[in-house]
Amino acid sequence: MSESIFLPEAATKAEKYQALLPQIEALISSESDVCANLANVAAVLKEAFGFFWVGFYLVKGEQLVLGPFQGPLACTRINFGKGVCGTAWKEAKTQLVPDVEAFPGHIACSSASKSEIVVPGFKEDKVWIVLDVDSDLLDDFDQHDVSYLEKLMKLLDKNA
Ligand code: SME
Repeated sequence: MSESIFLPEAATKAEKYQALLPQIEALISSESDVCANLANVAAVLKEAFGFFWVGFYLVKGEQLVLGPFQGPLACTRINFGKGVCGTAWKEAKTQLVPDVEAFPGHIACSSASKSEIVVPGFKEDKVWIVLDVDSDLLDDFDQHDVSYLEKLMKLLDKNA
């Protein structure tokens, strides 16, 4: 398996995602362990984009439970429908939050987090995981993030 990722310098966010997705696909298709793949994907996203916090919550029974991540300590369990992550699970839909303080019920794991995107992954039409990305800047995510992170989650769904 490849143990390094090529990152174009001075690239736009879209160009970075375009360069990364095939490399992530190669990385995770050569490894069958889900936890190992989630850990590497969190590391690659952190390195490529410098996100404040990036990681996964996995559906376990009635809750989301913290999985592999990069960034500061985070809350370990989130109930169905709660916070941005629980809402993405309940609605089975990506949540793009330009200002976390304006999101009713947002769960503040860190007061430094200002904007957030949460993208669900699906196994047999059911949410099995969410990718959560936090920024310490307001309004830091856009439709590029939505579209490429949804593509990324489809790669994980296929290999889960
Ligand atoms: N803000 C999230 C909680 C998880 S942390 O941001 C890592 C939420 O509202 O669900």
